[in-house]
Amino acid sequence: MSNDFIKTAVIGHPISHSKSPLIHRYWLEKHGLSGSYNAIDVPVDNLKQGVADIIKDGFSGFNVTIPHKISIMDICDEIDDLATAIGAVNTVTIKNGKLYGTNTDGFGFVENIKRSAADFDFKEGKAVVLGAGGAANAVIYALLQEGVPEIFIANRTKEKAQKLTAFNPEKIKAIDWALRNDVLEHANLIINTTSLGMAGHPPLDISLRAAPAHVLVTDIIYAPLITDLLKQAKISKLRTVTGIGMLLHQARPGFKLWNGVLPEVTEELEQLVLT
Ligand SMILES: NC(=O)c1ccc[n+]([C@@H]2O[C@H](COP(=O)([O-])OP(=O)(O)OC[C@H]3O[C@@H](n4cnc5c(N)ncnc54)[C@H](OP(=O)(O)O)[C@@H]3O)[C@@H](O)[C@H]2O)c1
Repeated sequence: MSNDFIKTAVIGHPISHSKSPLIHRYWLEKHGLSGSYNAIDVPVDNLKQGVADIIKDGFSGFNVTIPHKISIMDICDEIDDLATAIGAVNTVTIKNGKLYGTNTDGFGFVENIKRSAADFDFKEGKAVVLGAGGAANAVIYALLQEGVPEIFIANRTKEKAQKLTAFNPEKIKAIDWALRNDVLEHANLIINTTSLGMAGHPPLDISLRAAPAHVLVTDIIYAPLITDLLKQAKISKLRTVTGIGMLLHQARPGFKLWNGVLPEVTEELEQLVLT
């Protein structure tokens, strides 16, 4: 670690809502590091120029959010195996003007569950994943890495769920969205990765009646923090994990890459991000 001023950022469009500056600035201050983390609005058709400006301005790295997580892959000089497998980059390190891309979303998802439900065993049974969008890619890849024996994906557009079975056709099955309640029996883990239930979006219509008593229910949505899915799970006395930890933990590897310190997620940081 040096005493140099480390410039970092998150790029996306729109970007003003991003919680990443709050998280990274908290850690910079906490560790007494000299640096900055800004939200930079980069419109869809300006990615190449936006990134060229960031390199010219001497940044050490940046996070990537919607809509650039896939298109940034064409601009990176190197992409690690993880991001290649997931098909998206959310963290870029700049060294000697070259861009190195990785993906920390799966790490954030798994770490959140491990920290929030320490005795949960991914290997113990099947996972039911609702949704097959961008976030589902990283979640499903991470589930396989953790040894989940069987994964059912229910998505409104079944073709997108079918595409994700390519990660491991023997272990992953795509099912009709209409059958989502029927596959909850014997589930060890239920994950909502759709945008349903998020503030300003339609509700998630699901019944947990068939879910077994030992199942863990998690939602990657964190606004609201306790989604209707988690409320329903709590009423049925099922274990739950909220989505805020995924957001916080996915930020840690990038901070380490740029600043040399692996920061921790604290209660104080969680409250700061939620208020
Ligand atoms: N906690 C975290 O750190 C974190 C990280 C990433 C994302 N997220 C949250 O996760 C959610 C999904 O993000 P994403 O990037 O994966 O979005 P995305 O790529 O747009 O995917 C959206 C998903 O929701 C489904 N969906 C949307 N409207 C629907 C409807 N009316 N009926 C049924 N399904 C519907 C889509 O199904 P179709 O394929 O049929 O369109 C798709 O599976 C967002 O709420 C986001 O904020 C949280």
